[in-house]
Amino acid sequence: MNKILLYCRQGFEKECAAEISAKAAEHQAFGFARVKEDSGYVLYECYQDDDAEKLIKTLPFSQLIFCRQMVVVGELLRDLPPEDRVSPVTGMLTGVVEKAGELRVEVPDTNESKELLKFCRKFTVPLRASLRAAGVLLNYESAKRPVVHVFFIAPGCCYVGYSLPENNSTFFMGIPRLKFPSDAPSRSTLKLEEAFHVFIPADEWEERLGSGLYAVDLGACPGGWTYQLVKRSMMVHAVDNGPMAPSLMDTGQVFHHREDGFRYRPARTNIYWLVCDMVEKPVRVANLMADWLVNGWCREAIFNLKLPMKKRYEEVSQNLAMIDEKLKAGGVNAQIQARQLYHDREEVTVHIRRIWSATPGRRDER
Ligand SMILES: C[S@@+](CC[C@H](N)C(=O)[O-])C[C@H]1O[C@@H](n2cnc3c(N)ncnc32)[C@H](O)[C@@H]1O
Repeated sequence: MNKILLYCRQGFEKECAAEISAKAAEHQAFGFARVKEDSGYVLYECYQDDDAEKLIKTLPFSQLIFCRQMVVVGELLRDLPPEDRVSPVTGMLTGVVEKAGELRVEVPDTNESKELLKFCRKFTVPLRASLRAAGVLLNYESAKRPVVHVFFIAPGCCYVGYSLPENNSTFFMGIPRLKFPSDAPSRSTLKLEEAFHVFIPADEWEERLGSGLYAVDLGACPGGWTYQLVKRSMMVHAVDNGPMAPSLMDTGQVFHHREDGFRYRPARTNIYWLVCDMVEKPVRVANLMADWLVNGWCREAIFNLKLPMKKRYEEVSQNLAMIDEKLKAGGVNAQIQARQLYHDREEVTVHIRRIWSATPGRRDER
């Protein structure tokens, strides 16, 4: 198998292709990306046979921005016979994957594929039995073993391959399924919730998203993001000239500052989270976030960068590189991740965590 299949948001195939081409080349795995506009996926074909496997091991999935899932696949299986679609799929995986821990039969995230998804659900049952009999799949689910992916792009037509549990998305189709909380003041609440699922490991939620932490929310109104922080029993400074939802103010956990988010400075030194959803030029937001982190005004930040119409991958990369430079110049060691989330449209979400500060006199952080 010498191809990498990358799932992405429909309409962002070019960005996904530009990104994988650049990052694969950094890992000396050369090839070319096949892009079909609006398909919801990209195929990166490596010139060397082993490079696809090498890439899914060495290219950190967490460093990909426009990709929701990364799978090694072989040639497209076409015209699967309706009377037995199971055997060709099982045959393609036999000898390639052993004792996988999970099977996901998936489709691109497009309207056209919705019908196909119904077939995928039905097809999963006989395929699972066949893969187990062939030793491709374990008899029980295991999160520590590879995941088998069967990706239908049309009826009877699929890519087949696997992803690695330590370097993939844990979610079906790379999308966390979240339910809109009916008492949240805006739908964008799901963006921050998804960001928590994608960027913060579940076993660290209690420490990093736990009760009693202080947070600042820039561009907070009407309060969808603040809602997520309040729900986790945090105290929130909400900065925005607009009105906050009364239900949030009634909790007593929210201080509303009617101020410009670019001028607001925290009065306290105990802010853990900075979140920011202000609709502004990406470069302005990126600079502001870097300033907060360099000055030690927060420990972690989650914010959106709105995308321009063209050269979107380049624009995001430049902003991330600028933040990285500013942090380094400020003596701040940080982990930076960015992802176009399912709930992001023309934007990406960035997460930055200060690891420790090298500046003399500044308190070290784990
Ligand atoms: C997309 S909305 C935020 C939605 C919010 N995150 C939620 O979940 O309900 C953007 C908000 O940013 C605010 N905003 C834009 N520029 C701002 C600035 N310079 N200072 C403070 N707020 C700003 C707007 O008033 C608007 O309420």
